[in-house]
Amino acid sequence: MNDKIEQLLAALSEMKAQKEQDIEDLRVRMLGKKGEVTKLFEEFRTILPEQKKEFGQKLNSLKNAVQDKLDQLRDSLEDSEDGAASFDLTKPGDKMDLGSRHPISITREEIISIFKKFGYTVAEGPEIEDDWHVFGALNFPPEHPARDMQDTFFISTGDNPILLRTHTSSVQVRSMEKMDLPIRVLCPGRVFRNEAISARAHCIFHQVEGLYVDKNVSFADLKQAILLFAKEMFGEHTQIRMRPSYFPFTEPSAEVDVSCNICKGKGCNICKGTGWLEILGCGMVDPNVLEANGIDSKVYSGFAFGMGIERIAMLKWQVKDLRNYFENDVRFLKEFETVI
Ligand code: DAH
Repeated sequence: MNDKIEQLLAALSEMKAQKEQDIEDLRVRMLGKKGEVTKLFEEFRTILPEQKKEFGQKLNSLKNAVQDKLDQLRDSLEDSEDGAASFDLTKPGDKMDLGSRHPISITREEIISIFKKFGYTVAEGPEIEDDWHVFGALNFPPEHPARDMQDTFFISTGDNPILLRTHTSSVQVRSMEKMDLPIRVLCPGRVFRNEAISARAHCIFHQVEGLYVDKNVSFADLKQAILLFAKEMFGEHTQIRMRPSYFPFTEPSAEVDVSCNICKGKGCNICKGTGWLEILGCGMVDPNVLEANGIDSKVYSGFAFGMGIERIAMLKWQVKDLRNYFENDVRFLKEFETVI
């Protein structure tokens, strides 16, 4: 009897089930009316009284082991997607949960595709930069108060410290260094500023910078490029206005507003009643910047512009809190499933 119990326990551990029927067969073979375990219980009645205690315990644990095995096989069959149904090729498939693209990626691609139509190519540069590419070559002299416009994360100190780029204008510099003239380039990327995180500010965000350098580039060309972009991005009815501004790397500089695409310029709480929304900064490349990058400013001129991707996406989809972009909340991301 002892051997039989051992044998059955060993056999049990080898048992596998591919379908529901295999489990039922095992149950009948072990616990059915003529099953192996049932037979052992019948045999148990005939053994000597002094052996009853030992064998009683062994038999009970065998019975429990059979029950556990049956439960375990049933669970694993349910868990495995290839369970009982895997051989039924006619069964409808499970719906696949498709992911969606992040709104920042969608917006970046849209901006790029608009400017590609105007002949711009895309350039990228390092996120960890040196002071020269982020500030020096862009006409921010050392100690210049304009450096305070962008609160910087420094990685090292010295003459040309290493830092996290605060704007993608650094790629403008890198493009002028290595590209042949004329240049028409778009520089998308991630930027970093030491700002407290709130609904309207973050220490990491994304920009797209544009640069066009050629002979006879004028402010009228800049205005036309921005107007065409705004119409493509926010709709044919969109108007722009330019307000004088200051950036060290452009002269003259301007900030651009688009007519509010929600109230169509009438005034609403998104545009704070003004009918206008700010979308980007721009200007004519300062001759100092051209010269710092080895371009003859008497022969060439250019314009540049820079915009925050989060801001454009916020205006396009009325996202109220910038933090949504970084939290990866699937409920938020799913809202953009149908955009692409
Ligand atoms: N780099 C500026 C910023 O991060 C944005 C900008 C303004 C870029 C004007 C430009 C420009 O190229 O011409 O605030």
